[in-house]
Amino acid sequence: MQSQSITPVITIDGPTASGKGTIAHKVAETLGWTVLDSGALYRLTALASCQQGVDAADETGLASLAAQLDIRFHAGLVWLDGQDVTEAIRQEAIGNLASQIAALLPVRQALLERQRAFRTAPGLVADGRDMGTVVFPDACLKIFLVADAQARAERRCKQLKDKGFPANLTLLLEDLLARDERDRQRTNAPLLAATDSHTVDSSNLTIDETVKVVLDLWSNLGFRAR
Ligand code: CDP
Repeated sequence: MQSQSITPVITIDGPTASGKGTIAHKVAETLGWTVLDSGALYRLTALASCQQGVDAADETGLASLAAQLDIRFHAGLVWLDGQDVTEAIRQEAIGNLASQIAALLPVRQALLERQRAFRTAPGLVADGRDMGTVVFPDACLKIFLVADAQARAERRCKQLKDKGFPANLTLLLEDLLARDERDRQRTNAPLLAATDSHTVDSSNLTIDETVKVVLDLWSNLGFRAR
């Protein structure tokens, strides 16, 4: 058994709608760990900027907004300034705005320590784009979760419809490819597999099969699920 002097982290990075959030929650649940949905922090910043009228090009204003967000994650719900915004942050328009402002270095810096503060015992599963490369470079296990674009668009379409939002598969596929491109091409913390990450393609895997791949990789490191 490997010894771990600091709280262990498993990172799950990957493109939009690759299933990172679902897999991260299930892995965290199995291990009894905390989960960090880092995308939610960018989405919350985007939502707050709309509510407070901060322009998407105002780097300083957005960074100070990100630093001061009054947020709470509890029992699967997300709160902003005391209001339940769990559904509101999942709108495609907010996701697209989040992707735009996530390219701004001052915003990323403002959120860096907030993300690291989620690292609490007994462990953390962190999902996002730069968890393994920038936020938790010392993570014990790094997963880069991919799936082909069509499979991801279909998943996102179903997810939105299940939540009662309108969804059009063709438009979603276009949006998703544009967001992938923006996340990959940006200078600051681009979407990139860490050199020491394991790439997992979930195009033809069920959720449970994907979770098992991650947990098996974790066990192979000499750690055990609870
Ligand atoms: O659900 P989806 O994968 O589309 O997005 P998300 O994980 O909720 O993140 C929303 C946006 O925030 C993404 O499109 C990224 O541009 C950005 N993001 C980021 O830059 N870095 C992260 N660690 C997480 C999200």
